[in-house]
Formats: sequence, C-alpha cells, structure tokens
Amino acid sequence: MPKPGKLILALPKGRVMDKSLELLRQAGLRLELSNTGRALKHDAGDALIIEMRNADVPTYVELGVADAGIVGKDVLLEAGRNIYEPVDLNFANCRISLIRPVGASGPVQRIASKYPGITQAYLRRIGSSAEVIKLSGNVELACLTGLADAVVDIVETGGTLQANRLEEVSTIGYSSARFVVNRAALKLKASQLRPLITALRRVVQEPTAS
Ligand code: PRP
Repeated sequence: MPKPGKLILALPKGRVMDKSLELLRQAGLRLELSNTGRALKHDAGDALIIEMRNADVPTYVELGVADAGIVGKDVLLEAGRNIYEPVDLNFANCRISLIRPVGASGPVQRIASKYPGITQAYLRRIGSSAEVIKLSGNVELACLTGLADAVVDIVETGGTLQANRLEEVSTIGYSSARFVVNRAALKLKASQLRPLITALRRVVQEPTAS
C-alpha cells in the first residue's frame, strides 16, 4: 500500500530519465538529484526517486511501492498491469512493428521479441500460429542470424533497421512515454498527485521552445 508523505516516483534508468525529470520540473516539482554515482534511490526534494529498468516500472507502481512513474506504452501493453495512465507525455514516440529482412517472402513461422505478450496478441488477431521466442535485447539480431524469420520490436528513427537491412512489414501499435499512477495512491495522495497530473497535461500541451 502507498505510504503517506513524499511522493515516490519510479523512473527508468537511461535516456528516459533526463526528459522525465525535465517534464516533472516544468510541472512544478522541485527535484534535485545530486551526483550520487550508482545510487538507485534519491531523496530529490519534492519526491523520492527510485531508478529501475523500464520493464519493472509497472510492477513497482501497481504494487504501490511507487506512487507514480514514467514508462513507455510498449512496456505497459506488455506488462498488462492494473494502473492508472492519466497523461501521454508525448516523448519517446515510436511504432511497435513486425520486422523482416528486406525482401523476405514466405510465411512467418518464428518471431523473436522482447514483447511476447504483444506479439501473441497480434498473432491471435491475424489468425497466425507462428512460434514466439522471447529475447532480452538487440532482437533484430534474431533475423540476421536465422534464429527467427521476423521480429516484433520498436522503431523510433529507423536507424537500426537501415543499418541491418531490415524493414517494417506491419505496424502493430504506437508507443510513447506515459505518466502512470497507483490507483490507491491517487486517492491517498490526491493533494499531490491531482495537481501534478493537471500540470503535466498542461506542460505537454504547451508548444516547447526547443
Ligand atoms: C530499441 C529497439 C530497436 C531500436 C529502435 O533498442 O529495440 O533496436 O531501439 O530504434 P531506432 O529505430 O531509432 O534505430 P534499444 O536501444 O532500446 O536497446 P535493446 O534492443 O537492447 O532493448
């Protein structure tokens, strides 16, 4: 259950972290992260920030260890967690696509992905019985090595596809970063979370200078 007191925010390590902090500050939170090396838990002023792999954000938020967090819609779709998703932050925009080597033909029999749940749901929709192999990263490699004849992965700039002579053959969905909230925390910390949600919505709707 969420604890009273400071907001606890789950944020993914890496490139999403900086943009997340920028938006949260624009939304009025005073957040100062000292240079704490490899620390994973930061008392950052108006919130406690816990840093984790993006795939773990929905777990921490649903179970109430974090009151709220920021994570991609791709991860949310795959996790299937019961959490409130009030704001599309409109960054880290990408497609979730079925990808094959350029010019590949013939039936798709094996698909590799970090997103086996999204992939299975897609296969059910199109009535395919292809096999799904779960990988942890660099999934395009599966196509290049013959491990699979297609992959389901995110495409942002298309640079990875181009560099590896791969192409999107079908768009399965769209993803962007989302602000997510634990359902109990929304009530217990309403005085902090409601204004933050309103402010984030305003920030992402405003045209930015950059
Ligand atoms: C993601 C994704 C693609 C790439 C797509 O990988 O899995 O490989 O980005 O981006 P692009 O269209 O701009 O090239 P990421 O760097 O997150 O690492 P991972 O594959 O190890 O998960």
